[in-house]
Amino acid sequence: MLSEKMQAALNKQINAELHSAYLYLAMAAYFEHRNLPGFAHWMRLQANEELGHALKFFDFIVERRGRVMLEPVGAVPAEWASSLAVFENALAHEQKVTGLIHGLVNLAVEERDHASDSFLQWFVDEQVEEEASADAVVEQLKLAGDSGVALLILDRELGARQAE
Ligand code: FEO
Repeated sequence: MLSEKMQAALNKQINAELHSAYLYLAMAAYFEHRNLPGFAHWMRLQANEELGHALKFFDFIVERRGRVMLEPVGAVPAEWASSLAVFENALAHEQKVTGLIHGLVNLAVEERDHASDSFLQWFVDEQVEEEASADAVVEQLKLAGDSGVALLILDRELGARQAE
């Protein structure tokens, strides 16, 4: 059985993951608008992954005989200054999510909730990957600079991303 405190924190994380999905979908829409379908594809897959993360928390709460409570999802931006600004935002967002996951692990340890602690370790590892993949694109976009050709090549590369 989940403690009230742990249940509330896990529910909050469902909301954070859904907000992430919403943010990446907004980024996909921005790239579609800018005629960069590869970037849009990458962001759409990212949004799908976030939905998957939300469902992992959902299922875990249900499995522990807790109660899932869905809250409104916060608003997301529609405009960014550049492709680089979008990915810098994505990276900063993932760093924030990493902090949230680590906070949940700390709470699980405090509550001596070993099952939650074990469940959360998957997310600890996942965040390393999430930050690395956003950071890799940030660095590539910095290298591309103002080159339209480099941007198109990168668009093609990101368009080849496969769903996990
Ligand atoms: Fe659900 Fe991108 O972390």
